[in-house]
Amino acid sequence: MDKNKIRLDYNNMMADVIGERGFTKADFDAVKDRVYFAVNYFNEKQGTGFMGWTRLHYEQDQVVEDIVKTAEEVRNKFKNFVVLGIGGSALGPISVFQALCHLHHNEVNQGRRKNAPKFYVEDNVDPERMNALLTTIKLKDTCFNVITKSGSTSETMTQYLVIKDALEKAGLNPQEHIITTTSANSGNLIKIAKAEGYKTFYIPDGVGGRFSELCPVGLLPAAVLGIDIKQMLEGAKFMYENCVNAENANNMALTAATLQYIAINKGHNISVMLPYADSLKFIADWYCQLWGESLGKNKYMDGTPCNVGQTPVKALGVTDQHSQIQLYTEGPFDKVITFVAVDKYRKKVVIPAGCEDFPNVNFLCGHTMNELITAERKATEYAVTKAGKLNHTIYLPVVNEFTLGELMMFFELKTAYCGFMLNIDPFNQPGVEEGKNATYALLGRPGYEEKANELKAGTKKFKKYMM
Ligand code: PA5
Repeated sequence: MDKNKIRLDYNNMMADVIGERGFTKADFDAVKDRVYFAVNYFNEKQGTGFMGWTRLHYEQDQVVEDIVKTAEEVRNKFKNFVVLGIGGSALGPISVFQALCHLHHNEVNQGRRKNAPKFYVEDNVDPERMNALLTTIKLKDTCFNVITKSGSTSETMTQYLVIKDALEKAGLNPQEHIITTTSANSGNLIKIAKAEGYKTFYIPDGVGGRFSELCPVGLLPAAVLGIDIKQMLEGAKFMYENCVNAENANNMALTAATLQYIAINKGHNISVMLPYADSLKFIADWYCQLWGESLGKNKYMDGTPCNVGQTPVKALGVTDQHSQIQLYTEGPFDKVITFVAVDKYRKKVVIPAGCEDFPNVNFLCGHTMNELITAERKATEYAVTKAGKLNHTIYLPVVNEFTLGELMMFFELKTAYCGFMLNIDPFNQPGVEEGKNATYALLGRPGYEEKANELKAGTKKFKKYMM
């Protein structure tokens, strides 16, 4: 197990390492009560209400079997698998695909794809993108997975309607091409799925969108791609069991949450997620939703108004060393940088000889790209630390199903703990709902007439401010 254990190094958050802007024992003492509250609240609420995601690694044996069986059927029958969903119903599948499949999956041959279908996630309603999809895939070869927890999100329902219509117009039976993933008891998709006879997987009640990767939302697409979902759940369970009590010295989620909470209190309003691996590029996107949507709130738990949160920013090492790092090194002291490092990349590329006459290039020859990317991460860590900027590093021994499950669970736990320290509800998203409801009103959904009037009355635009 230890060879798969992810680690946290937070030296560069501490005053005795980075100097005056780092944290001291006094900083930890000052938040002791909030940490204590967070741990107790977590322990009390785990498995209940919107903390159903804390049981997913224990309670899905049966559904996992069904997913594996269905995935096998899909793999045998279809050349393309398309996820129709948005937000928490898309970002998990995207990031797991990127992490565990060939980085040019759709372009390589079937053997290199491990016999998995080509994979697309359509998480927008840009008409040009829908058109691009429909002119790229052959409908008869495609399985569509419509994913929506609420069962009514305009974007996903629109995509569903377009696809169903296209299938029918092509003389195909939608029932044979559509799988739905949604709530069993609420929303419209479940009613539609029953009426149309679609194969359906259920999103458990206590699992919100951004906490849903380890339920059928993420597990079905992953299994279709040939990913070992049981190992992902094992990894999540391993992290979970290391992170559910305060006394546990391995509780790195609680430690990371506490560090971030102290940082927020000191005015570090930005959380930069900086993985040094293309495979983890979209983990940064997934994290941005998790962190931003969970912690950005305008009410404390008791309803008292507030405005809290920490703005997540995604970056990629080394690519963004050439765009964002200048700001992180020399700009304001308002960020916490999270490096994500990989001990062992799954491939090795040697930098060949061939530049002997040019010593300033030749020094690279004989090294590997593995050494170069690692050196660049260390160098960047050195530069931001020297500038006194708060940063810490999460190490993955290797990117695989187990470590990815660990990593995702780590971030989910860290988010929950930090939300409780901030005294907000990390599991709701009224700000998102407001936008969804306004869209319904603008497009005339029955029941949203009052909202439509509110919008009409509240939307004021002056010509003088338009150019
Ligand atoms: O985290 C959340 O709850 C949201 O971001 C949702 O995932 C997103 O709005 C999509 O919602 P749904 O899955 O209900 O279509």
